[in-house]
Amino acid sequence: MDLHPKVTPIYQTSVFKFGSLAELDEYYTAPDRGGRYGYSRSEHPNSEEFVAEVAKLEGAAGGGVATGAGLAGLLAAVLSTCRAGDHILCPAELYGGSVVLLTQEMSRLGIETSYVPLAELYDLGKHRRPNTKFVLAEVLSNPLLTVLDGPRLARACQQQGVLLLIDSSFTSPILTRPLSWGADMVWHSATKYLAGHSDVTAGVVVARDPALGRRLAQVAGSLGLMLAPLESFLARRSLHTLRLRMRQHSENGLAVAQMLAAHPAVGQVFYPGLATHPGHELAAAQLLDGLFGGMMSIRLANDSAAAADAFIQKTRLFPFAPSLAGVASSCSYPAATSHRGLSPAQRQALGITPGVLRLSVGIEDAGELLADLRQALS
Ligand SMILES: Cc1ncc(COP(=O)(O)O)c(C=O)c1O
Repeated sequence: MDLHPKVTPIYQTSVFKFGSLAELDEYYTAPDRGGRYGYSRSEHPNSEEFVAEVAKLEGAAGGGVATGAGLAGLLAAVLSTCRAGDHILCPAELYGGSVVLLTQEMSRLGIETSYVPLAELYDLGKHRRPNTKFVLAEVLSNPLLTVLDGPRLARACQQQGVLLLIDSSFTSPILTRPLSWGADMVWHSATKYLAGHSDVTAGVVVARDPALGRRLAQVAGSLGLMLAPLESFLARRSLHTLRLRMRQHSENGLAVAQMLAAHPAVGQVFYPGLATHPGHELAAAQLLDGLFGGMMSIRLANDSAAAADAFIQKTRLFPFAPSLAGVASSCSYPAATSHRGLSPAQRQALGITPGVLRLSVGIEDAGELLADLRQALS
């Protein structure tokens, strides 16, 4: 009985039935499995629909896979492309969780990762090794929003014959489409803007090349990395509002950044939408529709942990919650969260001083956000 639901229902089932051995044969041999599903660890309609929508937004002809967390997506990308003895190259500014996965875990499997400052990475011939399989870079770095020159890095990767994987979690396909630069895979922590409501932990990786897309799905199926039906449904549903949300995040982000840049309690604002940001021109040329997103960091004029703590305790609309990109605003403190494992000297070298706070600007009424920030900084 087909009830023709307008929305794909949640297929909360671990397994699908076959009526005959012929149907099973079709599942294994027909193109696209004959439209059949077998076991939800390998495929189910909700994750397929979510991936297909992300692939459409990214222009990814090869499809890909949705995973139970962003980092599981990185794991799928690594294990789809690398074996023991291979090498991965990343900017030194990379998100800490990615560094832990690559450096602490993948290194034990014989996959080595090295890091160079983003500004030097474009000179790829100097840093790549004969066994370098891919470069992983973020469009906007966390937490100081360094802007990647994506087309330049993609050209360098093509010249050197290495794959390029882009983490677009801070930007989403509304702000930028890395495959159009020549990247090979785009990866999102869908926990962030794609799902966007701070109620789903998910990842997604999509590829230009169908063989790579199939390999990503195969690896995720073999390792049990697949995103579950309910989370897939929620993430897919959120994509309906992604464009609207990204516009509002960006509009509010710019208003907040401009107010903070003029506030005496704030020493520095790191937001690529401000003309004073060193990556502003690059971001303006590269990000779509003049949108810069809702992520920024600030360094308080009183660059101390005590001043940061006072802000955290006074703000009402930016609760201290160490994630980002939800519809409701939040703040985080990189020195004690993402960069906790570094020494004070290492943090200082990266610019993550004690008075640096990261703000994730939501889609609330901008006037209320500005008023809350003013009172928290007073
Ligand atoms: C830029 C970036 N990439 C990847 C991840 C990892 O995603 P997840 O936490 O969904 O595993 C995060 C998480 O904070 C992130 O900020």
